[in-house]
Amino acid sequence: MPLENHSRRTPSIRDIAERAGVSITTVSHALSGKRHVAPETIERIRALVPELGYVPYAAARNLQAGRMLMIGLVVPDVANQFFSQVAQGVEEAAHERRYGVVLSTSHADVDRERRYFNLLRSRAIDGLIYIAGAANWDDAFTPIADQYPIVIADEPIPSLEHLPFVGSDHRQGGSLAGAHLRELGHQRAAIILGPEGLTSTHDRLAGFREHYPDALIFPGDFTEHAGHTAGKRLTAEADDITAVFASNDLTAFGVINALTAAGRRVPEDISVIGFDDIDFASRITPSLTTVRQPANEIGRKAATLLIDSLLKETRPTHPTVLSTVLASRGTTQNSKRKPVRSEARNTSAHS
Ligand code: RIB
Repeated sequence: MPLENHSRRTPSIRDIAERAGVSITTVSHALSGKRHVAPETIERIRALVPELGYVPYAAARNLQAGRMLMIGLVVPDVANQFFSQVAQGVEEAAHERRYGVVLSTSHADVDRERRYFNLLRSRAIDGLIYIAGAANWDDAFTPIADQYPIVIADEPIPSLEHLPFVGSDHRQGGSLAGAHLRELGHQRAAIILGPEGLTSTHDRLAGFREHYPDALIFPGDFTEHAGHTAGKRLTAEADDITAVFASNDLTAFGVINALTAAGRRVPEDISVIGFDDIDFASRITPSLTTVRQPANEIGRKAATLLIDSLLKETRPTHPTVLSTVLASRGTTQNSKRKPVRSEARNTSAHS
């Protein structure tokens, strides 16, 4: 029987078999992988599934239960190892609960993020873990975030404090960086900030200022380029600075490259400390001293919180704030400089 092109009924496995010119058993084996089927036949059958809108029985069962057993994860940039380490934790915890993960890199673009909030609203995914990349939260998302299962991770969003959150104590991490440099005897230090307007940027600076209230401040955006730009300015404008806190490891890599290119040795002439402790941090030479965030644990806890809330129909509200720890390595050492006489100084390098 020729398949009606505009049939209202849900396509069946029989329709797939007829269209592919094979038996129902062959279709079943091609989709399940339980028995050998010729690769070209598998390819032909699998192409028919979305074309005909066939929903395999398992997915149909989940749909009946109102769940796709899929969650979404939106991160600013999966190429940044911090976010891929968070994503790994999300996937591990989701897999343990038989959930899949749809991963999206937003590049902090609201239009890209909107697509995932629509997936959430259309129930194509059961829940969403959202990491903001810029201080550009679209208030239009708030009603969706209030109605659908969502967990905010890593970057606190002030207007969404009532939603579940999992992330590091960014202020405690900034304070750790400052305390470490103080213990090494550094009198004058600089900080290269994260993106303007982010809570993590504000909190890391506040923590660092507990130890360096007159820290020299350079703008940044969590990129190597911003670190390199700040490093060039540092060598040209601030020869009394003996230590730099970069607000993430990529920024630290950039500032180290600029200092080295200008003939300043790290750590002999100037110490550098980063934030995140991504995999590369321990592999560069000298290895990067940094503040370690529990990235994998943030991912695991965010996915567990979300999926448990899906299964129990609950919505936890308490934030889960995790501590950071110092990873003391090769880019920081005792300051050899005599303490400089503290003079009234403009502490901002914005000028
Ligand atoms: O490296 C990316 C940075 O963006 C991390 O420090 C993470 O916490 C977010 O702030």
